[in-house]
Amino acid sequence: SSKLPLKDKVCLITAGPTYEPIDPVRFIGNHSSGKMGAAIALELANRGASVKLIMGPSHVKTDHELIDRVDVKSAQQMYDAVHSMVATTDVAIFSAAVADYRPANPVDQKIKKKSNTLTIELVKNPDILASVGAMTQKPFLVGFALETENELEHAFAKAEKKQTDLLVLNSMRDKGAGFGVDTNKIAIIDKNKNVSRFETKPKTEVAKDIVDEIIKKIL
Ligand code: C5P
Repeated sequence: SSKLPLKDKVCLITAGPTYEPIDPVRFIGNHSSGKMGAAIALELANRGASVKLIMGPSHVKTDHELIDRVDVKSAQQMYDAVHSMVATTDVAIFSAAVADYRPANPVDQKIKKKSNTLTIELVKNPDILASVGAMTQKPFLVGFALETENELEHAFAKAEKKQTDLLVLNSMRDKGAGFGVDTNKIAIIDKNKNVSRFETKPKTEVAKDIVDEIIKKIL
């Protein structure tokens, strides 16, 4: 029906930060709250979609009968969860703040305090979004970009590199946008480099704008 336009669709969404273990008690993480991704998951479910939410460590609640939530910690676990489900997905949205690097050799025992400096070698994590973008049979793909300068130029390049159908850009320069806060200011870029700009608004309202754009493109 028109009230539940996504009734027959399966939507996968990544959200939150990732935690990359250093030793049993320490990790490398970031300040992503998971709020934007949670809001999108709830909005998709409210429009009738079957939602697979792959969530990094976050206390944000996402209870809904149409949301199937898988909690993960590291980027590798998020990658594995995405690839176990992506073949049966119609729309995939990558809102997670995935760590670009992880400790090369996480150790089994807590690292002891010894010398004045400590070096931890890092290795690159897989780019989950790009790995799906490179598939021949793939869902409608939505990525996110957080840029601090030359936003549009970098966003166009990112959309092309990761082969997204839509790219959601949030600028760190805007007050009320980004990590931790309950509001966000976005622009959405499509494959033809059309840019739709939106006002600063609560993340629940931003989620509606993003889902509206997806529906316009896929239905
Ligand atoms: O390259 P950058 O990190 O700016 O790209 C951001 C986009 O790529 C987001 O959609 C993010 O969820 C996704 N990403 C990912 N896996 C990574 C890094 C980023 O899925 N390892």
